[in-house]
Amino acid sequence: MQKAKTQKAPRFAIFASGRGSNATVLMDSFVSGFNEGTVCVLVSNHADAPVLERAKERGIPSECIPHKGIPREEHDAAMFETLKRYKADHLLLAGYMRIIGARFIQEFPGHILNIHPSLLPDFRGLHAIERQWEAGVKVAGATVHEVIPDVDAGVTLLQGSIEVRGDEGPEGLAERILNEVEHKIYPQAVWLLTRRLTQPSS
Ligand code: GRF
Repeated sequence: MQKAKTQKAPRFAIFASGRGSNATVLMDSFVSGFNEGTVCVLVSNHADAPVLERAKERGIPSECIPHKGIPREEHDAAMFETLKRYKADHLLLAGYMRIIGARFIQEFPGHILNIHPSLLPDFRGLHAIERQWEAGVKVAGATVHEVIPDVDAGVTLLQGSIEVRGDEGPEGLAERILNEVEHKIYPQAVWLLTRRLTQPSS
């Protein structure tokens, strides 16, 4: 958390690749006034991602920047340029299924947050829920963390947990992590970040 403090209402961009349930609760947290500031743009890398429709329904600007057949640096550069064009202060990754390059992360002046469906530092990376289920964990959850070049390894802002039910299977567990944990902690983590950025330090 070494970035500059700000006094103006912050502008958040969201990157999402698919159904966008986290992106939707985040957008709603600004629309309802729970979170201070605005979502200045929602960007997806898939033209048919339902999340683009969720943004349109809320009158939030959206852009599609497909990645297929485009070198990673070029796609990253197009995403970065969009953040500049919409004057985004901070970036929220919400089911954005691409790794963002180190250069992007280092050059972006604001905070970049992501949500991961495990209690980090355990179960970093892909298929986190299936791996938790197979490992037989008794408690599972999700983590909102800062994004650094190492995947799922940045500082934790907030975590939430639930007890695993023996009979729910990985699909049931995934659904409960999403609904009972992720959708609560991501808007709360943004609230915490905004407070830290606007409160004068004592
Ligand atoms: C969530 O489980 C999130 O933790 C992970 O990707 C999934 C995205 O789901 N990073 P949704 O698109 O937000 O519904």
